[in-house]
Amino acid sequence: METKPSEIVIELDNVEKCFGQQKVLNGVSLQVRAGTTTVIVGASGQGKSVILKHMLGLMRPDSGRVVVFGQDLAQSNTKQLRDIRSNFGVLFQNVALFDSMSVYDNVALPLRERTHKSEADIRVDVEEKLALMGLEDHGAKFPAQLSGGMQKRVGLARALVLNPRVVFFDEPTTGLDVSKSNEIYRLFFETQARLNYTAVIVSHDVPKIFKLSDVVALMADGKLQGCMSPEAFQLSDNPLIRSFVLETMGPIYSSETEETLLYETL
Ligand SMILES: Nc1ncnc2c1ncn2[C@@H]1O[C@H](COP(=O)(O)OP(=O)(O)O)[C@@H](O)[C@H]1O
Ligand SMILES: [Mg+2]
Repeated sequence: METKPSEIVIELDNVEKCFGQQKVLNGVSLQVRAGTTTVIVGASGQGKSVILKHMLGLMRPDSGRVVVFGQDLAQSNTKQLRDIRSNFGVLFQNVALFDSMSVYDNVALPLRERTHKSEADIRVDVEEKLALMGLEDHGAKFPAQLSGGMQKRVGLARALVLNPRVVFFDEPTTGLDVSKSNEIYRLFFETQARLNYTAVIVSHDVPKIFKLSDVVALMADGKLQGCMSPEAFQLSDNPLIRSFVLETMGPIYSSETEETLLYETL
């Protein structure tokens, strides 16, 4: 049965961006549909984070358009941008938890800053998200008392506490070993199934999330190459994608790792 594609939540249309002489984005185009997971891969320094910053409205394109929820960000005023961003959840590489605040207060922060909820209602929301991340007994601790994996889970709880429509992850498992980063992705996809958010993930851990994503794109030569299903991406004859697939995923294909199992079910 054909299912109708869901609405477009984010659209990049021929976005260009230079920093001085360096052209980082040279005609980036992408459509992100509601409820899907898009994974952007590519070598360091190619402009993956710069793409996310454009989607978040933190950077403006030199030319081209960034449209979020049908609204051109360049045409949006400060209040409109704030309203758009209130639908976003963000987890960056360094997590950026506040060291002087407890886990509970870190997760409560977006609710205190962005809503008028009472402390009693905030407690309900925070406890729900902590439980979702298996952190129900750790609310009173401080970030420094937690392992790296637990800190990421706190970051994930905080990114999701406002029940965002779109969640952005920039290299969310940086610094974690294989089993810890698999755990983060497992939690991520479980909560996505439950909360139904749209996800844009920048990752170099391609194999772990490959099968679970809807669209994969390679950032290379200033453009997003591919923007296709993981199956099609893997078989693409685009030379840039081919060499990426061979270099990044080749060794994993032939090894007996957990990731191999993911491929076998493709
Ligand atoms: N605010 C900025 N000012 C100047 N150069 C920047 C800025 N942000 C990113 N760049 C440059 O753009 C390029 C792409 O950066 P980035 O998107 O962070 O790469 P990555 O793909 O590793 O996420 C890099 O060469 C970086 O130095
Ligand atoms: Mg980056």
